[in-house]
Amino acid sequence: MNTAINPNDLTAVIEADRAHLWHHLFQHKSLETVDPKIIVEGKGMRVWDATGKEHLDAVSGAVWTVNVGYGRERIAKAVYDQLVKMNYFANTAGSVPGSQFAEMLIDKMPGMDRVYYTNSGSEANEKVFKLVRQIAHKRYGGKKHKILYRNRDYHGSTLATMSAGGQLERIAQYGPFAPGFVEVPHCMEYRAQVETENYGEWAADQIEEVILREGPDTVGALCLEPVTAGGGVITPPEGYWQRVGEICRKYDILLHIDEVVCGVGRTGTWFGYQHYGIQPDFVTMAKGVASGYAAIACMVTTDKVFDMFKDDTSDPLNYFRDISTFGGCTAGPAAAIENMNIIIEEDLLGNTVTMGERMVNNLQALSEKHACIGDVRGKGLFCGAELVADRASKEPADEKLVQAVVADCMAQGVIIGATNRSVPGFNNTLCFSPALIATADDIDNITNAVDNALTKVFG
Ligand SMILES: Cc1ncc(COP(=O)(O)O)c(C=O)c1O
Repeated sequence: MNTAINPNDLTAVIEADRAHLWHHLFQHKSLETVDPKIIVEGKGMRVWDATGKEHLDAVSGAVWTVNVGYGRERIAKAVYDQLVKMNYFANTAGSVPGSQFAEMLIDKMPGMDRVYYTNSGSEANEKVFKLVRQIAHKRYGGKKHKILYRNRDYHGSTLATMSAGGQLERIAQYGPFAPGFVEVPHCMEYRAQVETENYGEWAADQIEEVILREGPDTVGALCLEPVTAGGGVITPPEGYWQRVGEICRKYDILLHIDEVVCGVGRTGTWFGYQHYGIQPDFVTMAKGVASGYAAIACMVTTDKVFDMFKDDTSDPLNYFRDISTFGGCTAGPAAAIENMNIIIEEDLLGNTVTMGERMVNNLQALSEKHACIGDVRGKGLFCGAELVADRASKEPADEKLVQAVVADCMAQGVIIGATNRSVPGFNNTLCFSPALIATADDIDNITNAVDNALTKVFG
């Protein structure tokens, strides 16, 4: 066993990794012949691997998480100070940072009132699913229990969240799934299911069709990503969200927005849904809440929902009988407070809007040069470029070529992403989600690397 790590020689670390670690979303065969990538340091927008190679990170820790960038000493210090004072007590009791962050968060979410702490995005989503089921039992004799989710959306890796999984390659081979989850069609205009002038409204109307087919008295909630992330960076079409809000009100269906990716600044507003003038009943968030400096996720709801869980004290089951052990860790909210302060003090929402526009403009300019770019989408610093084999037919580019573009950027020292094991035949969207601190030079360096890679791979 190697207990001492020599920072100049990570051979032992690499060997331990190869011998014992099971990486996420990773086919391990390749590590029989190449070394696993080990990231040893990060500062701002950059990370260094075990060989000392520097990379510009255009995906905030691979999965759109490190929103305020690496190496933020003030977050580390706030977490340290909190941990030595009081690290943990179950959230059956309160904590100082837990209360403070809840107040800060609610201040950014008009119309929302209550924060429930959990460990991960999947778990936060499951909390909503449980609440919806419990409301169905309390109010509707168990009938209004179905949860609608959308094709191409993702809500997590647990069995319940995979039951709401709209990406077939993520859920394949893991069934059977939980009953009572029903899919609605996607709203991706580039691959619209019909030709119509008002695609946004049409796509929302398809949700109504499903509700009518299932029976409105059986549908409890609709769960949607504001901008679909891993399903292809799908920005919603004009008119979509307004109509979705109307439909939910019409059939008394609770609206659950999964902001695990978009939440806390990624799209240039605090939350993605805030672009579209809608009022959700539940909002879940995880990745950007503390930018990965501590594990924290939140489920946020309204007093209208909250009050349903305390209205009858004579019934011993009439409250939310749920706990998440590590929802009592204070490191999460302590980190989240500093994370939010940084976003405010450095006006990172403003920067996200400006730099997001630059990124979309750069990608659009690339699409004039490279016919393989079929569509460019983006909201704030959350952008995608869909690669196609043929622009006219929109046939998706071969996944191997898409991965070759990602690999070439990596070789150039720029880490970009691509949709991966998501929608069968459509793992063809390059993904960009740099930290909200990105500068104009960073954005240009990212898109220059993509330009080089596309030239090399597609000619
Ligand atoms: C939209 C969305 N929801 C939920 C999740 C699940 O979050 P976690 O991996 O923290 O469980 C993810 C993760 O990528 C996500 O993208």
